[in-house]
Amino acid sequence: MVLQILISAFFKPRDGSRMNLVSEVIFRRFSTTDLERVMEINRTCLPENYSPHFFLDVYANCPEAFIVAEVDREVVGYVMCRMESGFSDLGGFRLVRKGHIVSLAVKSHFRRRGIATTLMSSAISALTAQGASEAFVEVRVTNGPAINLYQKLGFRIVKRVPRYYLDGVDAYVMSISTSQFR
Ligand SMILES: CC(C)(COP(=O)(O)OP(=O)(O)OC[C@H]1O[C@@H](n2cnc3c(N)ncnc32)[C@H](O)[C@@H]1OP(=O)(O)O)[C@@H](O)C(=O)NCCC(=O)NCCS
Repeated sequence: MVLQILISAFFKPRDGSRMNLVSEVIFRRFSTTDLERVMEINRTCLPENYSPHFFLDVYANCPEAFIVAEVDREVVGYVMCRMESGFSDLGGFRLVRKGHIVSLAVKSHFRRRGIATTLMSSAISALTAQGASEAFVEVRVTNGPAINLYQKLGFRIVKRVPRYYLDGVDAYVMSISTSQFR
């Protein structure tokens, strides 16, 4: 899976002016050689950090839905997901296969250009192909940008989990039916 899009990025030359350059973003499946870079993005963008083993474990569970975004051969964002089974979050007392979006981040300099949207769309397509009928994500109730992103993609808040995070912040669980996703 390799998808290429063009983004318009602002770069600041030494004289302080702004140059609007067009860069190519490549979306491709994670490879273990990306691990260090992905962990660095995770550390700089999120308070939830994990061991190398954890990243590789998620990758082994669903390699198709661990996707990175690359600009000028530099990884600038990632999404990683796991396939799980459980009761539907979207109504009805039934067991379903669910795609769990475990972690998503885009380096700050590359935000607001649709990179997370494409990472998420690609991951949900991969999860659907693996048999997920739903996808879900936990998000801090204070994380406005991420909540907006998920709502824009069609996720809805299905539950609030008190003190979900180690620092005591609550989480929303946000879910979507993969059949409704396009
Ligand atoms: C959340 C995050 C992944 C979004 O990445 P991104 O590449 O900038 O997202 P996109 O450009 O695809 O944005 C899509 C939509 O999300 C919403 N959004 C994204 N950033 C936003 C912000 N700072 N404020 C408000 N809404 C925002 C908007 O609705 C946006 O659409 P628009 O630009 O047309 O208004 C990024 O801000 C990030 O890495 N944050 C830190 C890590 C994190 O919070 N991860 C999610 C954990 S659950």
